Amino acid sequence: MKKLEEYVRCIPDFPEEGVMFRDVTSVLQDADGLHLAIDTMQELIDDLEFDVVVGPESRGFIFGTPIAYNNHKPFVLIRKKGKLPCETASMEYDLEYGTAVIEIHKDAIRPGQKILIVDDLIATGGTTEAMIRLVEQLGGEVVGVVVLMELAGLKGREKLAGYRLESAICFEGK
Ligand code: PRP
Ligand code: MG
Repeated sequence: MKKLEEYVRCIPDFPEEGVMFRDVTSVLQDADGLHLAIDTMQELIDDLEFDVVVGPESRGFIFGTPIAYNNHKPFVLIRKKGKLPCETASMEYDLEYGTAVIEIHKDAIRPGQKILIVDDLIATGGTTEAMIRLVEQLGGEVVGVVVLMELAGLKGREKLAGYRLESAICFEGK
């Protein structure tokens, strides 16, 4: 049987020279790859108790919703600035060049709820760190983060000291 990491297509020098791009589309466009990805992420959090799954636009939606569905929990969207129609809390975070802002509906999380964060990838950890701060601002307790892929060389894990981070595939390097 093909291993999960074998479904990830690796493209050298994209989007810029020196970067090895780990392509999630090659996992998703294979029925076995998609099953294996979701099932592996699910196994990593099987022991975890949580009330709500939170995932960021856009690739976080792909993996967050099936995990929420599997566990019969609600799914809460974190979106890029200006997309959510009701009252929002927002958080700015650093990108490689410049900054970005993500938002969440204020009524999406109640104080004390246990939150599982799901995304496709942790690279620098900036997005995940911003999501944690956003959830905590609303009184949620982040009990875990699960991603399909971790780029260990970018040391995102170090930003999340004290939080449980699970990755289905850990790539050495950047
Ligand atoms: C990518 C990826 C993660 C994030 C990881 O999202 O899907 O969410 O970057 O990088 P980080 O750990 O350095 O923060 P991106 O913001 O490119 O948007 P997308 O999901 O809409 O493609
Ligand atoms: Mg993303």
